[in-house]
Amino acid sequence: MHTTESLDRFMADVRSGLKASPKHLSPEYFYDALGSHLFEAICQLPWYPLTRAERALLERHAEEMVAPFGAGASIVELGCGSGEKLALLAAPLCKRAPRLCVHLVDVSETALDLSRRTLGRLPRVETSAHRARYEEGLARAAARRAVDAQGGGGAVLVLFLGSNIGNLAPAAAAAFLAGVRGALRAGDGLLLGADLVKPAADLLLAYDDPLGVTAAFNKNLLARVNRELGATFDLRAFEHRAAWNAEASRVEMHLVSRRRQSIRVGALDLEVAFDEGESIWTESSYKYTPDEVVRMGERAGFRCHQQWIEPVGRFSTTLFLAEERAAGR
Ligand code: AVI
Repeated sequence: MHTTESLDRFMADVRSGLKASPKHLSPEYFYDALGSHLFEAICQLPWYPLTRAERALLERHAEEMVAPFGAGASIVELGCGSGEKLALLAAPLCKRAPRLCVHLVDVSETALDLSRRTLGRLPRVETSAHRARYEEGLARAAARRAVDAQGGGGAVLVLFLGSNIGNLAPAAAAAFLAGVRGALRAGDGLLLGADLVKPAADLLLAYDDPLGVTAAFNKNLLARVNRELGATFDLRAFEHRAAWNAEASRVEMHLVSRRRQSIRVGALDLEVAFDEGESIWTESSYKYTPDEVVRMGERAGFRCHQQWIEPVGRFSTTLFLAEERAAGR
């Protein structure tokens, strides 16, 4: 379901993406109701270790991860998923405070619902859901700081987990992290989950699983354009493809046209021609080294407080702290 504003943006993005060369669609649009459930299924696949690896880190180190934040702190999760990971971090904070304010920010109503339900199980947690893009949701949540801390100067801990940072190209990731730092004050924190570089064969299995769940997740984007914008994509005429681009350190997902064909997007009054083998680029998942993650945060103006690495799934969780900025910066 769209607001008028989000429908306008979806239409504009689909138009420009399908007219571009190479053709592309933004991964932001994977997450309609079915797409959100397919993503949850991907997270359970034996070939997709990210979620389990991150969860293992949070289960083992949640206390240390929230240690710098005292009573009155609030949590803002950008891209909230199912809320399971947030619940692991909220639990130790709840123990020390009479109440904990949690802000969920996501464009997906389904993800917000799932998270709200998960957090509902924790005592003394007050949840606010913001159906918004990250920057806007963070601004809204940060504006509530004084109310959340009941007059005290509570810190804000921003969670950006699940390697969502990996779906942003490096320049966009840098701009995004600088934007998060700009919305925070000294003493606030950012807990960043980032997937790490691993052997190409493992990465390809993670993004092209033998059960075809990732293929369904990718193709569901076309089903969504059909349903919401009256397009005529024949899903059987497109093939899911995942490729590891070592030079750019990213897994790319594509939908490749099996034949020469033309499709129509009714709501946009747009005809789009495809050559056989021509693709729509739907997602990039950048993979980092632990040091690159630290440098990325530091360049945005954070200090790295601690980094935890899960050795089997090769995943990192890094706690960055916002410090007092030097005058003039
Ligand atoms: C949400 N995001 C971090 C996932 C990823 O790994 O890039 C989305 C995904 N795409 C395919 N599988 C999972």
